[in-house]
Amino acid sequence: MKHRNISLEWPERFTGKYVIDSAKIDAAIEKALEKIERNIEAWKDGFVGTYTTGFRYPIGENNNWVCGMHTGLYLLAYEISGKKVFLDAAKAHLETYKTRLDGKIALMDHDVGFVYTPACVAAYRLTGEEKYKEWALEAANHLYDAGFAKKGGFILRGFNWANESGCRTMMDTLMNAPLLFWSAQMTGNKEHYEAALSQEKITERLLIRDDASSFHHYQFEPDTYAPRCGVTWQGHTDDSCWSRGHSWGIYGFPIAYSYCREDWLLEVHRDITYYMLNHLPDDLVPYWDYDFTEGDHPRDTSASAVAVCGLHEACRHLKDGAEEKAIYENAAAQLLEVLIDRYTGDIGTPYEGLIHHVTAGVPQNIGIDECAMYGDYFYLEALMRFRNPDWTMYW
Ligand code: GLY
Repeated sequence: MKHRNISLEWPERFTGKYVIDSAKIDAAIEKALEKIERNIEAWKDGFVGTYTTGFRYPIGENNNWVCGMHTGLYLLAYEISGKKVFLDAAKAHLETYKTRLDGKIALMDHDVGFVYTPACVAAYRLTGEEKYKEWALEAANHLYDAGFAKKGGFILRGFNWANESGCRTMMDTLMNAPLLFWSAQMTGNKEHYEAALSQEKITERLLIRDDASSFHHYQFEPDTYAPRCGVTWQGHTDDSCWSRGHSWGIYGFPIAYSYCREDWLLEVHRDITYYMLNHLPDDLVPYWDYDFTEGDHPRDTSASAVAVCGLHEACRHLKDGAEEKAIYENAAAQLLEVLIDRYTGDIGTPYEGLIHHVTAGVPQNIGIDECAMYGDYFYLEALMRFRNPDWTMYW
């Protein structure tokens, strides 16, 4: 791996112990659970769409990449509270994951892990029911068989790509690779383990730049799978650093470390984390792209929520006394507290989601300053991690 050795530009912002009062975490959890419980009725006919319009979710079928996080939100709520209402809501979803697999419904891209990990891996963990494990393993086989380009050593963005933009891999895929690590752990499948590790390596080599910013996508030559160049999809420019994509790395690399214990994964994690911390505005809420550090641009609170989970996960693997551990603990607490204080709408306000000011895609002009299930799910996961630091993650 490249040794980038990025340093913090304003270490004083993240120095010292910063603690969120446990009563504040409890109150935030209670508010989130109350909101989810009320939403069960509004969402009972299916699955939320990928982002809200006017802060209300459209409802559809199990056919998009955030569905797994919707089911995962119910499972997290169940695990936190023990309340059957959340487990029942999850169970009302779960059979559709088998149907989705059988019909390969919207499963021909890299997001298979986003769909099956927080739904079926989590359901298996919490209930012990074998069928959920079987479906997750079947999904992992599909991700590997249809999605792993052996010649290139990466997971394809689009499995049967009709134009060359499918022949890419992306930061987000670091959150899909864990399904392969998990299946390798369950079954001993070495091919899955090596494919997931290869995805981590190629991301570090090609998508993380020398200054520890990240390309969103990386384009390969369609005929040879040789590397061509970094490009963007949801970022400001090809050369900018899209904040949520960067956060997928801030969480994805430490998840990979939890499976393979290779130290370079925590090194690259530190570099990209310091890049993020160096590019946060004064109020610590990321703009949608790190090209922007001040002014009136859309924020992306989901980038914060995902990063908090990643910082927390990395801390579990760092020795006490490690300089970056104290920084991550401080930063995670500050970032989460801002979300709790300023971005969670009260019951009765128009916000159906748990956090608002998520931005789905500025170039696509979709879901700007709205809510989205990846914001909601990772916010609740972050709260879970703060309440129970030993929580066994679903990823
Ligand atoms: N994986 C797409 C996104 O984060 O919006």
